[in-house]
Amino acid sequence: MTLKTVEWKDNSVIMIDQTKLPNILEYVTYRDYNQIADAIRTLVVRGAPAIGVSGAFGLALAALQSSATEKNELISFLENARKILFETRPTAVNLAWGLEKIMQVANQADTVDDIRTKVVATAKKMAQEDVQINMEMGKNGSELFNDNDTIMTHCNAGALATVGYGTALGVIRATKDSGKNIKVIATETRPVQQGSRLTAFELKHDGIDVSLIPDTAVGYTMANDLVNKIVVGADRILRTGHVYNKIGTYQVATMAKQHNIPFYVAAPLSTFDMESNPEDVIIEQRKASEVTGVGENRTAPDDINVINPAFDITPPELIAGIITEKGVAKPPFEESIKKLF
Ligand code: MRU
Repeated sequence: MTLKTVEWKDNSVIMIDQTKLPNILEYVTYRDYNQIADAIRTLVVRGAPAIGVSGAFGLALAALQSSATEKNELISFLENARKILFETRPTAVNLAWGLEKIMQVANQADTVDDIRTKVVATAKKMAQEDVQINMEMGKNGSELFNDNDTIMTHCNAGALATVGYGTALGVIRATKDSGKNIKVIATETRPVQQGSRLTAFELKHDGIDVSLIPDTAVGYTMANDLVNKIVVGADRILRTGHVYNKIGTYQVATMAKQHNIPFYVAAPLSTFDMESNPEDVIIEQRKASEVTGVGENRTAPDDINVINPAFDITPPELIAGIITEKGVAKPPFEESIKKLF
C-alpha cells in the first residue's frame, strides 16, 4: 500500500506533514480552511495534484464552517475562502483547477444544505479520481520503459505529491508492477530536498531500488551511462508543451538532450493550462533562508543576496513525450496536446 497523502475523514482533512519527513511520519488533522491554506503555503502538503485536491477539501471545510443560512451568503463566504486558498502558491495550475471545480458545483446547487452536501461529495470524488488517473497514467507510461532501465527523476512527483500512487513515480511503480526490473536515481532537489526527503523515502518505503545523488551529479551520472531514461512530474503544462516543474528540471532536460537520453514528463490533464502564455504564469519565489542554510544550519554569509525560484520552464524541444491518463503526447506537442482534449 502506497502512502495516503491527503484524505477526507469525519468532516475533517487528514494530511501527512511532509515537512517532518523522512524522520517522522506524522498525520495532521484540519477542520478550518485557513489551516489548509497555511499547510499549502508552508509545504505541509505540496505537489501539484495534491494541492489541487487540498484546495478542494479546503473549500469543502469552508462550506461546513460557514454559518450562512442563505445561498448568496454561503457563496460569498466560499469566494473569500477560494481567494485565500488560491493566493497560497501561484505556479501549479491544479490549485486553481480544484478550486474552480468546487465553485462551479456550489453555484449550481440550490440551497445551503445542497451546497454543503455536493461540495463535500465532489471534493471526495476528486481525491478518488486522482488515484485512478495516476494508475491509468502509470499504465500508459510503463510501455515506454524496458527491463533493466535506470530511470532518473527530479523532485517528488510521487504518492506524496498526489492523493496516492503518483505521476512520475506512478509510471515507475506501474513499470515495476508490469514485471520489469528497474532502478531509480533520485536527485536530492535542493533547496527543500523533496528528492532526498520524499522521493527516496517513498521509494524505499515501497521497496523500489533507489539511489540518491546530489543535484550536481546529474551530468556525471549521464556521462557515465548510469541512467538511460528520465521521468519527472509537472506543475503546469502550456498548450505549446512548455513544462513548468521544480527548479532544476530544465538543467536535467538540457543535460539529457546532450547525452541523447529520453526525457519524459508525466502529468494529468488537470495540470494542462490551455489558456495562458508564458508571460501570464508566475514563477513562485521562495524565502532566502531555504538557500542560506541546510535545515537549522546556516551555510551562507549573513545578508547575502539570494535568488530562489521554486520552478523553471523546460521547452518542448527537450521533451520526448508527455504521459497522461489519456495517452502519451509526442512532438509536435501543439497538435498532440490538442488531441488529448
Ligand atoms: O514545491 P513543490 O514540492 O510543490 O513542487 C513539486 C513539483 O515540482 C513536482 O515535481 C510537481 O508538482 C509534480 S507533482 C506530481
